Amino acid sequence: MALLEGRGLSKRFGGVRALTEVSFSVEAGSIVGLIGPNGAGKTTLFNLVAGTYKPDAGEIHFDGSNITGAVANEACRGGIARTFQVTRPFPAMTCLENVGVAIVNSPRSENRTGWEPLALKYLNLVGLGDQARVEARHLNVVQKKRLEIARALATRPKLLLLDEVLGGLNSHEIRQAVAFIRSLRDEHRLTVFWIEHVMGAIMEAAEKIIVLDQGGLLMEGTPTEVVSDSRVVRAYLGD
Ligand SMILES: Nc1ncnc2c1ncn2[C@@H]1O[C@H](COP(=O)(O)OP(=O)(O)OP(=O)(O)O)[C@@H](O)[C@H]1O
Ligand SMILES: [Mg+2]
Repeated sequence: MALLEGRGLSKRFGGVRALTEVSFSVEAGSIVGLIGPNGAGKTTLFNLVAGTYKPDAGEIHFDGSNITGAVANEACRGGIARTFQVTRPFPAMTCLENVGVAIVNSPRSENRTGWEPLALKYLNLVGLGDQARVEARHLNVVQKKRLEIARALATRPKLLLLDEVLGGLNSHEIRQAVAFIRSLRDEHRLTVFWIEHVMGAIMEAAEKIIVLDQGGLLMEGTPTEVVSDSRVVRAYLGD
């Protein structure tokens, strides 16, 4: 069953057609990859799903409801959380407080008054427990991405949108990160929709890959189907 479905989604920014009639589905309990060259419209698609922008045309269905045009807080209430390609922590707050803000403000929060131990639980989950009292501005890029994931998880989502979380990692760290993202699905029962430029990782982790090119849906298929498709090769390498 599809947890998330986009039907004919289009989005323009002035003269730029960021997305044109894109339809896709993300099955409940799956890891779905979203790939495509720079500027293909991947982040724009996330921005529509997460309620940052409204589509010009098309519909978004999530968990049995039509959520087209829902704003970010409504999407969060429904159970959609996302990380940002360019991380956005509160720089002068500690890691613990950054996750605390997500817990206290989440419409899905169970326990706002006891947020501290909960926040620490999420920091431990992403491997940032030792940095709990460190201000976010002191984190390196990799740690900031982990903090983003902790903040997203703290809203208790059903669907996690990951926007390029592997940047800056070496191959050993990438393997660890892939195992971690798999564990989110397997142990925390999340559905994961994941934009990534690190092909090996997304091909290993995802059951299905959706490929965008120049704002359009190029193809979708299993990782094996996608890597051997001449259209995909052409989109990345040119003619
Ligand atoms: N807020 C915006 N205002 C104007 N143009 C935008 C905006 N957001 C995206 N665009 C444009 O829409 C197109 C798709 O951008 P998008 O960020 O979705 O691509 P992407 O696939 O995420 O690329 P990348 O891999 O570089 O992150 C680009 O031409 C981009 O410049
Ligand atoms: Mg992007």
